[in-house]
Amino acid sequence: MDRYAVVGNPIAHSKSPWIHAAFARQTGQALAYEALLAPLDDFAGTVARFRAEGGRGLNVTVPFKLEAFALAGQRTPRAEAAGAVNTLAFGADGLLGDNTDGAGLVRDLAINLGCSLAGRRILLLGAGGATRGVLLPLLDSAPARLCIANRTPHKAVELAQGFAPHAGTTRIDGCGFDVVAGERFDLVINATAASLSGELPPLPPGLYADGALAYDMMYGRGHTPFLRAALADGAARVADGLGMLVEQAAESFALWRGVRPDSAPVLTELRRLVEAG
Ligand code: ATR
Repeated sequence: MDRYAVVGNPIAHSKSPWIHAAFARQTGQALAYEALLAPLDDFAGTVARFRAEGGRGLNVTVPFKLEAFALAGQRTPRAEAAGAVNTLAFGADGLLGDNTDGAGLVRDLAINLGCSLAGRRILLLGAGGATRGVLLPLLDSAPARLCIANRTPHKAVELAQGFAPHAGTTRIDGCGFDVVAGERFDLVINATAASLSGELPPLPPGLYADGALAYDMMYGRGHTPFLRAALADGAARVADGLGMLVEQAAESFALWRGVRPDSAPVLTELRRLVEAG
């Protein structure tokens, strides 16, 4: 049976094995998918052993996405732009590195949430790896404006400048949180790590345009603190990152197996499990 795994450290609580088992059942694909704990100092060795044992591909999560990028002999354009790899496919001619995070976000927004991005005004909070990982697919969706706001403004400015060649008709820029005061956005995405420490990005009030969606890449039971604050500040609707998690997995599955699973029922069931605790 073809073997796949998600590799990270820690990895015990990963939902990827559950998601890929559901995809495999649904599409009738015979495969095994496990969670693989790699020592912090031996990611490359862990990948090599898994491959030698007949592994066909890996999802890569914290903290190894940069090492996976370096390890991949070939990389997709979206992995190059992200500077990180979350999907490895083992082929006859080596390791192909892809990054499905941004495509997963865009599919969740466009299909699951019915939020079209073309011509819209997007505020993206944070300028770390999570932001960089989704910028190219967001720009490919041709929003009118993409503003990256970050606690450390120069990181947002540099990111915006780096992606300017991919911007097409989108006006892209970077700034600090205070600079966005007075502007309104159709979509505000939290890609900061603030929630991990129970904090909120210090945003000025009045950011949400009529009908605006607030999206948190984090997920959990109930609304995250960012989503609660967004509702209080006038966001018409909110969504967390569980859909992005399922959609990035579906993209990886499609890359490995050449079959696209139907993600909607898998997301519905996973949502039920998360809310049940
Ligand atoms: P990741 O790969 O998850 O994006 P990262 O590269 O460490 O992680 O980036 C974390 C992001 O969250 C950064 O944009 C960081 O802001 P700084 O660049 O100023 O460090 C942001 N962040 C972390 N804690 C935050 C907080 N309490 N408030 C606002 N932004 C925060």
